[in-house]
Amino acid sequence: MTENQFLIANYQNKIKQGSVTWKSPSNIALVKYWGKKDDQIPENPSISFTLDACRTTTTLSFSEKEKIKDDEFSFDLFFEGKLKEDFKPKILTFFKRIEAYVPFLKDYHFKIETSNSFPHSSGIASSASGMSALALCLMDIEKQLNPDISDDYFNKKASFLARLGSGSACRSIEGDLVVWGKHDEVEESSDLYGIKYPYQVHDNFKKYHDTILLVDKGQKQVSSTVGHNLMHGHPFASKRFEQANENLSKLIDVLKSGDLNAFIEIIESEALTLHAMMMTSLPYFILMKPNTLEIINKIWEFRQESGLHIGFTLDAGANVHVLYPENEAVQIYEFIKNELVAYCKNGHYICDRIGFGAQKG
Ligand code: DP6
Repeated sequence: MTENQFLIANYQNKIKQGSVTWKSPSNIALVKYWGKKDDQIPENPSISFTLDACRTTTTLSFSEKEKIKDDEFSFDLFFEGKLKEDFKPKILTFFKRIEAYVPFLKDYHFKIETSNSFPHSSGIASSASGMSALALCLMDIEKQLNPDISDDYFNKKASFLARLGSGSACRSIEGDLVVWGKHDEVEESSDLYGIKYPYQVHDNFKKYHDTILLVDKGQKQVSSTVGHNLMHGHPFASKRFEQANENLSKLIDVLKSGDLNAFIEIIESEALTLHAMMMTSLPYFILMKPNTLEIINKIWEFRQESGLHIGFTLDAGANVHVLYPENEAVQIYEFIKNELVAYCKNGHYICDRIGFGAQKG
């Protein structure tokens, strides 16, 4: 598929107004997307667990403008019930990027009402769940205008649009494992959208847990756009992009065999490499906090002593995602509560687990 398949020549139906609602989850990358080319094309393929509890719910109401095609985007944005002017520029950029693929955008005035299941101040990025929820709402309208589109096209285009809002958002449409970015060993994988992981997954990875330890709840120190740009001209960039491809290859075998030790090695190495890229770029950043390191060391000690399969990953910040299998969840959760929660800001953490994608309504 190329971008052109997502262009629309005309709509079958005419609709004056309506309202659609979608709930879309966040996701956590196992092999990280870090570095992009123009038009939100990733430098390397990534794979993620779709989450379940961390979600954005978006209602998109639309009403036909009186003066059609006045060449302006028209929308109001409400976040948790309050009008949010400061979120508008991001949506405007998104609308400009997707305009060619969503020609009805200028025909309507939109009211976007959005809220998160997790606290806004938690430091959890809401761009993946937020942009995917909005993309799904737009696709829902497209389906009302063109009812013949297939479910496969609906999901692919929703992911394609979400990607143009925020790269990682394209991995939040379907669950439970999603690959985004062309990889030689993953059939149908594409730089344009995420696909459901198409191969066998061992039972060890079903119901996998992700307990998110909120170490730092402030504004992101480095925005993802700035972060991705740091990979342009980065001395280790090409080697890193190669490594991500190799790690995804290794993960295919691990997901099949259920080898949890090998799984942990890959995800922890990916997390630390992501941070190493930031530490070795110009300008350089350290996004971990002292408590991030305390938690990592505690996890390593506990793993050594207990023989349990507890591992971690990080996103581009100080919070720690603690990942562990369902059949060891009781003991590992006890350890988290007793030993790790003390390092969280105000003792805050979120219990999440692998989920199955976005839902309508
Ligand atoms: C570290 O998807 O937030 O979480 O495309 O600029 O919106 P933009 O970036 P974004 O980057 C996410 C980076 C990451 C790793 C990952 O999710 O793969």
